[in-house]
Amino acid sequence: MSPAFKMNARVFVLLLFSSLTFATNFNKITKVFSWKQISYDIKGVLYLNDTQYERSESSIYFDQELDDSEKYFIQYNNVPIGFEVYGDRVFVTVPRRRHGIPSTLNYVQLGGPSSPTLKPYPNPRWSKLLVSTYRPRVDSCDRLWVVDTGLLEVPDARKQLKPPAIIVFDLKTNKQIFRYNLKDTDLVNERTAGGLTSITVDVDPKSCADAYAYINDLATNGLIVFSMRERDSWRINHSSFNHDAKALNFSVAGNVINWKDGIFSIALSDLNSNGTRTAFYHPLVSTQEFSVDTAFLKDKSKSIEGNVKILGNRGPLTQSGSHVYHNGTRTLLYANVAQDAILCWNVDKELKPENVGIAAQDHKQLVYISDLKVSGDDVWVLVNQIPRFVYSSLNPGENNYFIHRAKIEDLIKGTVCEKK
Ligand SMILES: *[C@@H]1O[C@H](CO)[C@@H](O)[C@H](O)[C@H]1NC(C)=O
Ligand SMILES: *[C@@H]1O[C@H](CO)[C@@H](O)[C@H](O)[C@H]1NC(C)=O
Ligand SMILES: *[C@@H]1O[C@H](CO)[C@@H](O)[C@H](O)[C@H]1NC(C)=O
Ligand SMILES: *[C@@H]1O[C@H](CO)[C@@H](O)[C@H](O)[C@H]1NC(C)=O
Ligand SMILES: *[C@@H]1O[C@H](CO)[C@@H](O)[C@H](O)[C@H]1NC(C)=O
Repeated sequence: MSPAFKMNARVFVLLLFSSLTFATNFNKITKVFSWKQISYDIKGVLYLNDTQYERSESSIYFDQELDDSEKYFIQYNNVPIGFEVYGDRVFVTVPRRRHGIPSTLNYVQLGGPSSPTLKPYPNPRWSKLLVSTYRPRVDSCDRLWVVDTGLLEVPDARKQLKPPAIIVFDLKTNKQIFRYNLKDTDLVNERTAGGLTSITVDVDPKSCADAYAYINDLATNGLIVFSMRERDSWRINHSSFNHDAKALNFSVAGNVINWKDGIFSIALSDLNSNGTRTAFYHPLVSTQEFSVDTAFLKDKSKSIEGNVKILGNRGPLTQSGSHVYHNGTRTLLYANVAQDAILCWNVDKELKPENVGIAAQDHKQLVYISDLKVSGDDVWVLVNQIPRFVYSSLNPGENNYFIHRAKIEDLIKGTVCEKK
C-alpha cells in the first residue's frame, strides 16, 4: 500500500466517523444507569413492583386517609427528576407529585447493577421525614443541600404537609447538619412551594461556614437567597424571572409543552477578581440568558434592579432546564429540552445563536434531560421523558429513565464552544 493511499484511507475513515458523529453525536456519552421502572430497597424490604412488597403500616407514606389502592407503592408514579453525584454515590430524587412514592431522596452506588434499586438517603427513617425534593446539590465542603418543598403535589389533592425547608447533610457522616424553614416572606402564595425545584450553593473557598444558597421559584417567579452564617433568607423578584410568552409551545416527544415555568436554573461562575461570582440564569420557557453579580444577591439591602444583564439569545428551540458552568473550559452546559440535546456556550463569546453548540443530541436517550450536573471534568445528565408521563404514557416494558455521563472535552470537541 502506498503511503498516499494509506493517508487517504485514514482521511476517509475520519470523515466517515465525523459525519456519523454529526448525525447523532451520542457516541460521546457513556450510559451509566437505565431503568424501565423505579424500584426501592427500604430497610431490606424490596419494592420491586406494585404487588411484590410487604403492605404494612410501615410502608404507608403520608397518605393514611387514602384507599388501599392509592396509599402504598404505585411503581408507575415514581418518576426520577433530580440527581447529584458524589464519589461512588449518585443521589436520585423522586418528587411526590403522585400517590404511591415511598421515598423522595435516595441514592444508588456506582459500579453495581445498571438498573439499581433506590435506597432512602441518609437512612430509611428519612423516607417519612422528607415530603418532596427535586434537584439537590453537593458543595465543595462535602455537604448535600436539598430543598424539601413540604408539598404533597398530587393533582387535585395538594397538601402542604410541612413548611418548605433547606436541609443540609454531611456526606462524610451522613448526618443532618441543619434544617432551615423558609420564611413566610420568602413565599408568595400556595403555589410557590411547588416551584422550588433547584438549589445552587455559593461557598466561600476560604470558609465552609460562609455559604449562600440560591433557590429558584419557577412557579411564582422569584429567587430565594439563604445565608448560612446569618441563618436568614430573603426573596428577590425581577421581571427577568418570568417566562417569555414568545418561547411557549415547544415540543418534546411529540407533545406541545405549554408550561409557563419561570426561572429554572442558576449557574455560578468561578470567583471574579473582586471576590464575587456571576450568577447565570434563565426561565425554562425562554431562549435568553441573564446574569447578575452575586454581590447583589448576597446583600439583602441591595437591589438587583438595574444590575441584571441580558446576555443575549441562544436561538430557536433552545429552551433549557438545568445548566452548569465548567470553569476549565469556560463553558455553560444546558439541558436543552426542546431539542433532546446538551447545548454549550463559551462565556467569553457573545451570546448569539451562532455561538451556541449542540454538544450531544439523541431523540431517544436524551428526551427531556431533567437535570444536568458537572462533577470534575464530567458532565452528567438524568433523562426522564416526563412529557410522555404527563401527556400520554410511558411503556414500562422499555427503558424510560437514564443517567449518562460524558467527558466535557469530548462533548465540546468540534463545536463552536471548543477553545482553539
Ligand atoms: C413483580 O416482581 C416479581 C419478582 O420479580 C415477579 O415475579 C412478578 O411477576 C412481578 N409482578 C408484576 C405484576 O409485574
Ligand atoms: C414579590 O412579588 C410578590 C408577588 O407580586 C409579592 O407578593 C412579594 O411581596 C414580592 N416580594 C418582594 C421581596 O419584592
Ligand atoms: C401557544 O399556544 C397557545 C394556545 O394554542 C396560543 O394561544 C399562543 O399564541 C401560542 N404561542 C406561541 C408563541 O406559539
Ligand atoms: C466583579 O467583577 C466582575 C468582572 O470581574 C464584574 O463584572 C462585576 O461587575 C464586579 N462586581 C462588582 C459588584 O463590582
Ligand atoms: C478557574 O479557571 C481559571 C483559569 O481560567 C483558574 O485561574 C482558576 O484557578 C480556576 N478555578 C478553579 C477553582 O479551579
